[in-house]
Amino acid sequence: MKILGLCGSLRAGSLNAAVLRSAAELTLPPSELTVDPGLDRLPFFNADVERTALPETVAELRAAVGAADGLLVVTPEYAHGTSGVLKNALEWLVGGGQIAAKPVALASASPALTGGDRARAWLSETLTVMGAQVLPRDLGIPQAARKINDGRVTDEPARQALAALLDDLVRAAAEAHEATDSLPS
Ligand SMILES: Cc1cc2nc3c(=O)[nH]c(=O)nc-3n(C[C@H](O)[C@H](O)[C@H](O)COP(=O)(O)O)c2cc1C
Repeated sequence: MKILGLCGSLRAGSLNAAVLRSAAELTLPPSELTVDPGLDRLPFFNADVERTALPETVAELRAAVGAADGLLVVTPEYAHGTSGVLKNALEWLVGGGQIAAKPVALASASPALTGGDRARAWLSETLTVMGAQVLPRDLGIPQAARKINDGRVTDEPARQALAALLDDLVRAAAEAHEATDSLPS
């Protein structure tokens, strides 16, 4: 299964980017997790631009999402919501339709005790309205600064929870893949 990882933080030392890095390492062949190069390459969403001259970076993101069997979306929590960069990317993806029926797993890491719960709840609602198959299991990593070191998740329970989330995602992606294959052509 081909999994695409999207990160809502642009920080070099991002805890959430570290979660995605560890997820890529924990994904077992023949499945693979490719990390998106960075949502800051997208311009701000503008429906006029979408209609008249779709930016190449948006077309590339839509193609990457379309080609993926599942998505792992990791988000920081900013002011009890997700980040602007992630919301902006989702706005570009609404019109493309590539997220419809796509299995999506959500994760967040925060130094706070709540672990980014509100950002995931917020994202879950947005992705659901976009038609994504948001997995029932998600992952919040509270007090993440203690559990992430040198750009990797080092806390063993958190690594195990991440591996379990990936298992769910790969299974849901395989089921969605099979369902698509069995449709009459
Ligand atoms: C503008 C701003 C708002 C924040 N709001 C929240 C918040 O509402 N809840 C929370 O748990 N953490 C909040 N934080 C702390 C972030 O969770 C923390 O900076 C985290 O490390 C960001 O994710 P990253 O490490 O992936 O960049 C906020 C941080 C900033 C800079």
